[in-house]
Amino acid sequence: MRNAYKYTYIYLTLTVIFSSCVDQKKFENIGTHEKPNVEFAPNMYHSVAYEPLTQITDTDAGLWLNSNGSDTGEFYNSNPYNPHKMNMREPAANTVRFNNDGFLPYRLPKDCLDYAAKTLVNPLKVNDKTIEDGKILYAKFCAHCHGETGQGDGPVNDALKGVASLTTGSVKDATPGHIFHVITWGKGRMGAHGSQLNQEERWKIVSYVKENLQKAEAQQ
Ligand code: HEC
Repeated sequence: MRNAYKYTYIYLTLTVIFSSCVDQKKFENIGTHEKPNVEFAPNMYHSVAYEPLTQITDTDAGLWLNSNGSDTGEFYNSNPYNPHKMNMREPAANTVRFNNDGFLPYRLPKDCLDYAAKTLVNPLKVNDKTIEDGKILYAKFCAHCHGETGQGDGPVNDALKGVASLTTGSVKDATPGHIFHVITWGKGRMGAHGSQLNQEERWKIVSYVKENLQKAEAQQ
């Protein structure tokens, strides 16, 4: 029983001592920009550079940290002329997105040709329309080297020499993924076409090469 009195006494004393040390007001709004409790090296959390997608419009945010005498807080970070809550400007009206084919970015690097050849599947429905579109694109982007029928006999071959035939040898049996990867990155003496044709267009060309050029050759 005496122990119980003793501990109660110690507990009460400590409570009085410690509670008098705490400034309750300090804990209001804690964890907000206005009043973080302890923030070590705040510049690591609050970007000095303007964040593109957000703004801190409160001119007082971080004011208590100011040592430079300005009347806006250290964390104030906003372009007041923007009509929306971002520092970045929105694209001009009617801007057309480059690569607007709805595909995720193609991330396989150039040296992954074998992997691409084995794993990629043509995501398009291969029908007459796809092949017809592919034919037009092939005429614009490939035929001057590879020739209209894909035999490597386009006019540029006269100068370049050694343009591969798409209808014979190993290329004849190349998988759609192989051809797609070669169009994207180029191979050997052929340059990359990934920046000129979006993924949908590349797959359309692949469809045309596989379903038309290579089949036409096989039937002869
Ligand atoms: C400037 C000329 C040129 C253009 C344009 C061109 N190619 Fe090529 N292509 C080549 C040459 C040269 C090679 C042989 C590359 C080598 O092995 O050095 C080749 C090789 C290829 C190969 C065989 C790759 C392999 O595995 O051996 C494919 C498939 C191919 N091209 C498809 C295309 C398609 C589809 C287009 C159109 C988007 C295209 N090329 C546009 C010059 C061209």
